[in-house]
Amino acid sequence: MTAPIIRSKAALQQMTRGWRRAGEVIGVVPTMGALHQGHLSLVRAAKAGADRVIVTIFVNPKQFNDPKDLENYPRTEEEDARKLIPLEVDAIYCPDPDQIYPDGFVTTVSVGGVADELEGAFRPGHFDGVATVVTKLFTQTMADRAWFGEKDYQQLQVVTRLSADLDLGTEVVGCPTIREEDGLALSSRNLLLSDRARIKAPALNAAMERAAARIGAGEPVAQVLAEASAEVERAGFNAVEYMELRDSETLKPVEVLNRPARLLTAAQLAGVRLIDNIAVG
Ligand code: PAF
Repeated sequence: MTAPIIRSKAALQQMTRGWRRAGEVIGVVPTMGALHQGHLSLVRAAKAGADRVIVTIFVNPKQFNDPKDLENYPRTEEEDARKLIPLEVDAIYCPDPDQIYPDGFVTTVSVGGVADELEGAFRPGHFDGVATVVTKLFTQTMADRAWFGEKDYQQLQVVTRLSADLDLGTEVVGCPTIREEDGLALSSRNLLLSDRARIKAPALNAAMERAAARIGAGEPVAQVLAEASAEVERAGFNAVEYMELRDSETLKPVEVLNRPARLLTAAQLAGVRLIDNIAVG
């Protein structure tokens, strides 16, 4: 049976208050829909780690710095609800826009530090939009725990910092990236790749894996990263926006591999922006 689809904050909170009174642990999986196996793996983790699970589906306009990107973002609500049936979630929260941003809404939640570089630099305002909507989703759902994918690794660090800094009372849990057999990280944006672009797309992860192995073997970080970027562009990507080795927690640059690090990248392929990251060392 499909879970109830809830569109108002009042209806959601009527439900969550009852769960709270019964002492149940509330879990939330925030999404923008176009659900794929990556999202479903988060829902499975949430089912194992909470008594009640809410999946939120809201395409958040405030986190899109490019209006075309917002317009093209896939919206597949009915199919999403069908995909969730076997997972038996307790509610799907698809808020009407005014439930998140009512008339007169003027507040922005802005995280510094981990949010400043990488995606923060290439997509101005993006993390303010994410932090603002996640704050609203955590408080509206009254979630004890929330599950996020490592696929958006910087987002995971931003949201972890946000919840701790603002005492939101929601524990943020990260889950591994799910990949296609050829290594391409699952993403709702993959739906936008043409057939030709889809064939080229796995070159990104392949170049990253090679770079991570070379860095792990002690080769100079800056040279390996420059060569990995060039390799991705030779494979048919239009531009590599960044290919960086960063501290796993602070996301500060790592020039010599002497602590847990993450290789993070963003690259443009035929009009679609792909991001990926892997652990190094
Ligand atoms: O990762 C996403 O899908 C979004 O950034 C999130 C966390 C649902 C906020 O809109």
